[in-house]
Amino acid sequence: MSTYAQLSDLERLLAEERSQFRTATGTSLEALDDARVEDIRLRFSGRNSPLQEWLKGLRALPPEERKGAGALINALKNDIESELEVFLVRYRAYAEDKRLAQESDDLTLPLPEVRFGSRHPVAVATRMLVEPLQRMGFQYIDGPEIESDFFNFEALNIPADHPAREMQDTFFLASAKGMEWVLRTQTSSVQAHALKERGVPLKIVCAGYTYRNEYDMTHIPTFRQIECLVVDKGVNLAHMRHTLSVFFSEVFGRPVKLRLRSSYFPFTEPSAEIDVECQQCHGAGCRSCKHTGWLELGGCGLVNRNVLLKCGVDPDVYGGFAFGMGIDRIAMSKFAVSDLRALYEGDVPFLKDFHLA
Ligand code: DAH
Repeated sequence: MSTYAQLSDLERLLAEERSQFRTATGTSLEALDDARVEDIRLRFSGRNSPLQEWLKGLRALPPEERKGAGALINALKNDIESELEVFLVRYRAYAEDKRLAQESDDLTLPLPEVRFGSRHPVAVATRMLVEPLQRMGFQYIDGPEIESDFFNFEALNIPADHPAREMQDTFFLASAKGMEWVLRTQTSSVQAHALKERGVPLKIVCAGYTYRNEYDMTHIPTFRQIECLVVDKGVNLAHMRHTLSVFFSEVFGRPVKLRLRSSYFPFTEPSAEIDVECQQCHGAGCRSCKHTGWLELGGCGLVNRNVLLKCGVDPDVYGGFAFGMGIDRIAMSKFAVSDLRALYEGDVPFLKDFHLA
């Protein structure tokens, strides 16, 4: 390493050092990479840089020259340090831009899995019910939650004075445009929408919120139902029973015993309650089936002629079957929840207990 014996030598060395520094940091950034930049930093301001050596060399100078020489070295040292700082900032910004420009986004790659929260038990139950039906060819459709009297009652063969309206404690909304509006009391209203708007043949499933004015351990004002409708030529009870039996076997993952118990619904004739063998005790009788061996899961039947007529379908040519059930009840039995209200209180510790992905 060059050294100096007198002030004039030092001045020459410092001038040379300054010019070398300018050359090193003045080259275009494209010619540099991280390793070269680190070399520059060490070369001009590292512990073994010439400037450090020259500072040590001050001792060899006559005392009267030392002060002036020290000031010269320190001036260059300060210049280099502050210019180096600016240079490093510029280089890092350049290197980052270059990295970002080279980084190409392949939009066809699968996203990394993002997990936050967990699925709600009712959402899981809904999917568990809808998916097998979709695999069986049912088309998923949605319907409005605010319904006209026509779709919620009238089209489903529940005229204004019909006692069946009393089965369903309805939330009425203010009438508007000369019509009565309600919060739908059943997803069966979607049957009428589908028939009128899509026509026949038809094979649909719908799931969603329904509303009734009731509140206790097993009833809440906002709950969810799933609804299915098949309309085509020559549809009969055997089709319905087979569909239900395949459906419930898919839902429970094994063949299940099914019982159709004669019942009444205005929009089906004949109508039945759907009972499925209790999945806890397999028919022996236990607490969850109230010792009957059966779970009552929903209603079904052949579509009433009047429904088809009201929706513009010729009941002498077309016929169909429908079934519907409450989703919450099924979620309760699947996840062993004893108070229905817990499913809707949004209590985080309660929901965390399920660990549902
Ligand atoms: N809508 C009925 C209820 O809320 C359930 C139901 C019964 C749906 C029979 C149907 C059916 O599609 O055919 O209680």
